[in-house]
Amino acid sequence: MDSTTMKATAHTNIALIKYWGKKNIELNLPTTSSLSLTLDKYYTTTSVSSAEIDSFVLNNQPADATRIHHFLNMLRKQLGDFSPLKVISENHVPTSAGLASSASAFAALTGVVVHELGMNLSNEELSRLARRGSGSASRSFFGNFAVWHKGIDDESSFAESLNASDMPIALVVAEVSHAEKKISSTEGMQRALTSPNYDDWLVKSANQLIDMQSAIQHADIDKVGSIAEDNALGMHALNLTASRQPFTYFTDQTQMILSLIQDMRHQGILAYATIDAGPNVKIITTKDEASTIVNILKNAMPTLAVEVAQSGPGISYD
Ligand code: ADP
Ligand code: DP6
Repeated sequence: MDSTTMKATAHTNIALIKYWGKKNIELNLPTTSSLSLTLDKYYTTTSVSSAEIDSFVLNNQPADATRIHHFLNMLRKQLGDFSPLKVISENHVPTSAGLASSASAFAALTGVVVHELGMNLSNEELSRLARRGSGSASRSFFGNFAVWHKGIDDESSFAESLNASDMPIALVVAEVSHAEKKISSTEGMQRALTSPNYDDWLVKSANQLIDMQSAIQHADIDKVGSIAEDNALGMHALNLTASRQPFTYFTDQTQMILSLIQDMRHQGILAYATIDAGPNVKIITTKDEASTIVNILKNAMPTLAVEVAQSGPGISYD
């Protein structure tokens, strides 16, 4: 690897049909296929250079390189050996707060390492590698909508772009907290697997994926939102009903926003919630209605940080 300073930029993605469980931990094979929207607002930029040992600098601060070292060793086995790397990364997204930093992070890292090795892999092949770093990263190579096929082995578990009609979808992100979550997604989904309702959720998720793809083809944002909300609340119900260490990512503010969303719907506003491994709420709506939703949130909760995101691009290199 030479000492060039190429950078890869990958955007985060928000799952509308969630990945919430591993069938194979070593290979990071999921129990469900999942579907996401890539966001314009939040992204990670990463570069690498040769070093004495694998190391990691995140947002200009030395950071724990354990997870990255483990991932780079996996890449060395898959792609052929390469020298230790210093990974320099900037997150334009809060880290570990349930806003999908691991998705943009491992997509950008995979992309830049493969480019620096002079290899030319398709985004589908890159997604298969990034999946091993963090499952949700498999979907961050693609702009707009992506589907991660759960597959049955390493080869068949990868993401690809979903052909979609143009639609004016927007996501209002209520940033309840930027604090690092206490229960990582990896740990949370292991607990969720112990819920007696898990098998029912698997069946429901497979049907919701089919319905979601149809809603996207028809550019039916109301349906996209309503399926996504149902899927996300189902995921969080698994956490509450886990037989081993039940838990929730919701806070009082999360609950308050969920109830405001119900009020908005009663007023005829298109607004549906999706929530990941953290208290932040992403509200699916139309570009036209986004500012109304921001105003309602700001009036009810003046200190709440709110962002409006739209569909974002796939990975890029410069
Ligand atoms: P999030 O909700 O932000 O996705 P996760 O717990 O799933 O949180 O992932 C956060 C983990 O991802 C961090 O602990 C770190 O190991 C890794 N990570 C975050 N940002 C980066 C980055 N820019 N480069 C490499 N790894 C990162
Ligand atoms: C709730 O991809 O962070 O955001 O594979 O263990 O790194 P690991 O998990 P991660 O989990 C994401 C969970 C989710 C739903 C989703 O993005 O599909």
